[in-house]
Amino acid sequence: MLKALENALEKRREEDRLRMLRDELPPVDFSSNDYLGLGAEEVNLSADRSSASSSRSITGNYPRLRTLETFLAERFQGDEATFFQSGFEANQALFSMLSDLGVTVLFDEYIHASIRSSLFRSRGKAWSFKHNDLTDLRMKLERSEGECVVVTEGLFSMHGDSPDLEAISALKSEFDFALIVDEAHSNGFFGEHGIGTSESQDVIADVDVRIQTFGKAFGIQGAAIVQKRESRSAVRREKTSIKEALANFSRPFIYTTAPSPLLTELCFHGLRRWDQAQEQRELLGENIQHYLMRAKDYAEASMNRGQVQFYSVGGNRATLQCSQAFSERGYDLKAILSPTVPEGQEGLRICLHAFNSKAEIDAIFDIFDYIRTN
Ligand SMILES: Cc1ncc(COP(=O)(O)O)c(C=O)c1O
Repeated sequence: MLKALENALEKRREEDRLRMLRDELPPVDFSSNDYLGLGAEEVNLSADRSSASSSRSITGNYPRLRTLETFLAERFQGDEATFFQSGFEANQALFSMLSDLGVTVLFDEYIHASIRSSLFRSRGKAWSFKHNDLTDLRMKLERSEGECVVVTEGLFSMHGDSPDLEAISALKSEFDFALIVDEAHSNGFFGEHGIGTSESQDVIADVDVRIQTFGKAFGIQGAAIVQKRESRSAVRREKTSIKEALANFSRPFIYTTAPSPLLTELCFHGLRRWDQAQEQRELLGENIQHYLMRAKDYAEASMNRGQVQFYSVGGNRATLQCSQAFSERGYDLKAILSPTVPEGQEGLRICLHAFNSKAEIDAIFDIFDYIRTN
């Protein structure tokens, strides 16, 4: 047993892929998902009890949690919301259930691990389609059998690009499928109400289910599965309640203690605070513009509309050396290695924040210049 761990770790080390839990980080943050800087604010909250005391189907379905879910459904323009302690748990709960119940899931090949790892279960079929490739998605839809779900992200967590949700939803007039969008990295910044790419692309009414997570731009923790039953699509008029299905068929939902009362209060607090964070959203927008102005001269640098950018390096070792050069200068940029991305597409993930200064953004490009010439 322990030998198995030792061998696996040794293999990782040899492949330059060993993940390390760092305790001291370089001071300049281009790495965290706290895009607006709200997560660093002090918080003083209280709750009338410290635990939900049991799972939601026993005594954990307490009134304040139900109030939060009613609030979340309205706040995120859905008909129903189910709250979880994290986005990972929400995705596990939803996708393991769909898979167990035999639903076919078509997922973008770059979909997050929290979704991917719940698929390929007992009865479900899961196929990937090429990243943001509508022709490939259409081909997979033509071949798919039975009930089908298409899932993509509002803003891809590693590369920072977004799908054309309007074009994906347009396929609903030809194929009967439910559309799910994980808005983990887009919510809190995209859209007037921070709902994410579904809002900024004006397709909220076409997306059947959204995963809204709160641990990134909202600066707190937790997530909600938000369902829109009356989707604009002519084909689909959903009667089923996802929450009812979760309560009956989803093991990650059923067999765990409900979110704590303190987390429930934190969620209320975080969403109220977000309403007052207009200045941070503007600062982040300005920083993205500043980055784009500099990035246009670098073929390796992405030109995404959002706060997650990518600088292609190629090769695990070269990418690690590159991130080391940043780290030595006090800059924290995350190296994205294969197999997280396909071989040859390794590079640095650059997360822009409201609190980064323009000089810090300029310095990134100075360091890239140095790396290029040395
Ligand atoms: C697309 C996506 N979905 C879900 C999650 C998980 O969310 P959480 O961090 O709240 O568990 C992440 C985390 O990075 C993510 O990138």
